[in-house]
Amino acid sequence: MNIYYAPMEGITNVYFRKLHHEFFAGVDAYFTPFIGIYAGRCIKKRDEREIDRAQNEGINLIPQILTNHSDDFLWLYRKLRNLGYEEVNLNLGCPSGTVTGKGRGSGFLKHLDELEIFFDEIFNELGDDASHISVKSRIGFNDASEMEQISELYSKYPFKELTIHPRVRKQFYKGYPDMDAFKKALGKSSCPVCYNGNIFTVSDYEKLANDYSDAINSTNGHLPKLSSVMLGRGIVSNPALAREIKGGDKLQINEFKAFRKELENMYTKEFDTEKNVLFKMKELWSYMSTSFESSDKYIKAILKSKSFAEYESAARMLENNCTLI
Ligand SMILES: Cc1cc2nc3c(=O)[nH]c(=O)nc-3n(C[C@H](O)[C@H](O)[C@H](O)COP(=O)(O)O)c2cc1C
Repeated sequence: MNIYYAPMEGITNVYFRKLHHEFFAGVDAYFTPFIGIYAGRCIKKRDEREIDRAQNEGINLIPQILTNHSDDFLWLYRKLRNLGYEEVNLNLGCPSGTVTGKGRGSGFLKHLDELEIFFDEIFNELGDDASHISVKSRIGFNDASEMEQISELYSKYPFKELTIHPRVRKQFYKGYPDMDAFKKALGKSSCPVCYNGNIFTVSDYEKLANDYSDAINSTNGHLPKLSSVMLGRGIVSNPALAREIKGGDKLQINEFKAFRKELENMYTKEFDTEKNVLFKMKELWSYMSTSFESSDKYIKAILKSKSFAEYESAARMLENNCTLI
């Protein structure tokens, strides 16, 4: 089973990925956060850096595109293929209002006729080279019952892989993944499937692996294949989660401390103000603190800190007083 690091805008940027890859084994592929395409066919400078091969040396990286225009998709897809990327992912899951309002991300799932035209144009134009396209999708915009039609549409195309995050748009990342809808979507898929959603611990992973062991072990093509699991918030909380899932060592406090320090150094170089470094580290700590026992009091102090010195002392207090779960 492949273990992926989910795309997470604002978190899994090129520098973060590089550091994570350096410190922690077990991730088979990383995804870039979504890359939008702007007027005149260009992408942000920041995104040029995301896909720069030199910046991603030794990392199996899958760039993700966010668009609902087939000609824009084709332009960026070709650029990425020319850079040597073996897989390019289409985002059909983003729940943000500014994205869905333009019919992109999970907003595209409301317009299945248009989505079909989009895929037809791409697959007709690319022919065999379309085999490098994968999709990351929610199970619907308003309601999980939409997945039936969505699955029918996806099954017409030979995607490299289909990642299913079994939530509808209005759930954002709250509530529980709808495993009934996931099971149905897996059953209907004509391509390998990646599961994504609420895998926070090794036992969450083991439960999934146990429940879907037939689909994981499927070799004869009669059963749809569950080929991969994508980790998002779980691996931000516990950066060693992929390694642990693969039977490796549990997260050690010393490697955590070293990783955390390097993250701070990296953000200090990237951002021009201490305020921005603090903001970013607080965001990360709101995930990472859940890997420590009884950390409530200490995370409050981290989130309340006003200066870097205050923050640093609160972070050290948490690391020194709370044990890793
Ligand atoms: C802060 C944040 C940023 C995200 N950015 C992206 C993104 O750029 N592209 C994408 O497909 N999903 C994005 N996601 C969704 C995650 O990839 C993943 O689907 C979601 O967190 C559910 O998985 P999890 O339960 O393992 O966290 C983002 C989620 C969060 C919380």
